[in-house]
Amino acid sequence: MGEGASFSPLPPLPFGVIIPFTPHFVCHCLFTLLYFLLQQSELNSFLWTIKRDPPSYFFGTIHVPYTRVWDFIPENSKKAFQQSHIVYFELDLTDPYTISALTSCQLLPQGENLQDVLPRDIYRRLKRHLEYVKLMMPSWMTPDQRGKGLYADYLFNAIAGNWERKRPVWVMLMVNSLTEVDIKSRGVPVLDLYLAQEAERLRKQTGAVEKVEEQCHPLNGLNFSQVIFALNQTLLQQESLRAGSLQIPYTTEDLIKHYNCGDLNSIIFNHDTSQVPNFINATLPPHERITAQEIDSYFRQELIYKRNERMGKRVKDLLEEYPEKSFFFPPAAASQTYTRGHNGTIRFLPFLPAPNS
Ligand SMILES: *[C@@H]1O[C@H](CO)[C@@H](O)[C@H](O)[C@H]1NC(C)=O
Ligand SMILES: *[C@@H]1O[C@H](CO)[C@@H](O)[C@H](O)[C@H]1NC(C)=O
Ligand SMILES: *[C@@H]1O[C@H](CO)[C@@H](O)[C@H](O)[C@H]1NC(C)=O
Ligand SMILES: *[C@@H]1O[C@H](CO)[C@@H](O)[C@H](O)[C@H]1NC(C)=O
Repeated sequence: MGEGASFSPLPPLPFGVIIPFTPHFVCHCLFTLLYFLLQQSELNSFLWTIKRDPPSYFFGTIHVPYTRVWDFIPENSKKAFQQSHIVYFELDLTDPYTISALTSCQLLPQGENLQDVLPRDIYRRLKRHLEYVKLMMPSWMTPDQRGKGLYADYLFNAIAGNWERKRPVWVMLMVNSLTEVDIKSRGVPVLDLYLAQEAERLRKQTGAVEKVEEQCHPLNGLNFSQVIFALNQTLLQQESLRAGSLQIPYTTEDLIKHYNCGDLNSIIFNHDTSQVPNFINATLPPHERITAQEIDSYFRQELIYKRNERMGKRVKDLLEEYPEKSFFFPPAAASQTYTRGHNGTIRFLPFLPAPNS
């Protein structure tokens, strides 16, 4: 699978997770230092051990290039991965069926085009924004990426080539991932994909706890006015960004720093459940704020609670069915954000306490 075309199953949603504006650089430096002092012995925030014989594991992964985080992942997590017999992912991204099913799930019904579906103003602004992205892309790419033979045209087409045929909600997510920072991080497999490739290389048995439809359908289930609202807000945000009047409230860089700090906990896990999408700001008129809140609770319900229940049940069944096997489950840390209650327990697996170190 070409990286450009590689699919990050649930791109970081602009909804639900609010990351404070203040970047925790202090934490980064402090923890980097501690990290080296402790020589990986303690900084193990993302590994949970299910104590049985042999043990099984949960490991919180993240959709960022693995090279940015690999050195910060403690040895015991890597060892847990190596020693497990069976590795489960959210989706099996090494299976061509998964990729094609995800791709077609994102498309509008046969014969429909975005231009027919979107309000004219939105369509025009979307088109203009994508033209801007296409124009800027060569300058966003790093020498390293060019050295690997990754070209702007190729990358743009891999991500946005078929945009006129995509459902508005997927176009919205696509626009969100077409920023300079995200483009710069393309070309290296993201951590969860890398683990999948490693599992394949090590000839481990693999599986998936989710089906494509289970990831795709909830997103397609937002109604038209909600989708248009979300797309409009996303475009407004990108337009402000272009005009230089807005700084993206969080970046992949921050996420990487927090992950490497083992700090996802404090910034994401503890978000207040009443918080609304991060494009919501104080200037939003009341009726739009309500729409934003409705979208937020819809996603919370569909992508967090229902999903946790489903995945939790499957994990439980697997563990019961194969007591002699050692499993390694790497659900994305982003979804673990949702699986953890305020008191640090995992919701869908209440028998798991806080991560062990
Ligand atoms: C979309 O859903 C919201 C919330 O459930 C509802 O208030 C609104 O009327 C719906 N709009 C359409 C066009 O169905
Ligand atoms: C987009 O959002 C702006 C600001 O909230 C609003 O004034 C405008 O009417 C919206 N456009 C569409 C097509 O919904
Ligand atoms: C807040 O929303 C308004 C209108 O939707 C938009 O013009 C402005 O750029 C937004 N500000 C931020 C910081 O997102
Ligand atoms: C922790 O949170 C979970 C789920 O939110 C809840 O069921 C459990 O009772 C809480 N435990 C404590 C000790 O508060």
